[in-house]
Amino acid sequence: ACNIGPPNPTRRTERQRLCDVKGVPLISSMHEIFGRVEKFQAKADDVLIATYPKAGTTWMIEIMDSIRQGGITKEIKTIPSHERAPFLEMNRIDTVPAGLDLLKDLPSPRLVKTHLPFQLVPQSFWDKGCKTIYVARNAKDVLVSYYFFHKMATSLPNTGTWDDFFESYLSGNVAWGSWFDHVTGWWDVREKHQILYVFYEDILQDPMREVERVARFLGHTLDKGTIQEIVKHTSFGMMKDNPMTNSSTVPNTLMDVSISPFMRKGQVGDWKNHFTVAQNERFEEEYRRRMAKTSLRFRTEL
Ligand code: A3P
Repeated sequence: ACNIGPPNPTRRTERQRLCDVKGVPLISSMHEIFGRVEKFQAKADDVLIATYPKAGTTWMIEIMDSIRQGGITKEIKTIPSHERAPFLEMNRIDTVPAGLDLLKDLPSPRLVKTHLPFQLVPQSFWDKGCKTIYVARNAKDVLVSYYFFHKMATSLPNTGTWDDFFESYLSGNVAWGSWFDHVTGWWDVREKHQILYVFYEDILQDPMREVERVARFLGHTLDKGTIQEIVKHTSFGMMKDNPMTNSSTVPNTLMDVSISPFMRKGQVGDWKNHFTVAQNERFEEEYRRRMAKTSLRFRTEL
């Protein structure tokens, strides 16, 4: 059962609990709004950016929006990322409106962000044949990034210790559920719909190639100079210093960048600084078991 607790009169953000939404744990405020999310009416020119949390969502939003606008326009430079790509299932928290309400006022073609596993995405996206970009990132770096994100994103549940969070993540008892289910669920349907499956590690390795690939998928032809401009604008260093992308425009009652920056490290392999040898062994064993039946392979395969 989901108990969302008494109203919070100070409207300060408080840590939420997880609630079951059709077998997937989501934070309680999303559970509350999910009836409206399911009924969302997508438009044919909506483009969806879907990820498991911490896989590089904000990075891909910046890439996609720059491509669609044909370069780094005034809008890109002056409007915060979360307003340019509203967060579909996010309910109103503090002074930030619900994603559904932001979407109502957004002119088409709209960019829509979601962390939902495939089976929870509103059906209208598929009925309308919307294009979707899915970004996947290796399981271990996502775990580390998600741990630090929980510290600063104060509406997420308490993580407990690193060891506690490690276990919660492995068992899928975290917001948006299991990484394994998420990446394989989207992988399985990528050919049934217009879904481009992109890897975080690939963008890091060859951003020119991946930006071009995303542009082609979205139906844009860009000259080399514009692609170079986009790659520069969306580099980790630039995005870390850019208030429109580094979450500094989000109220600090919601995301406290003094606890841990949103643009934290932006690297491959940071898990090596956090996993114990025993945890790594346990993780690999579970990984092999959970990934045995899928053809999905990460370049940084265990
Ligand atoms: P780390 O915590 O490992 O640094 P999301 O946007 O899905 O929440 O993902 C956030 C993660 O993507 C963070 O990972 C963040 O630093 C990383 N990231 C964001 N922009 C990036 C960029 N331009 N290049 C590389 N990594 C980036």
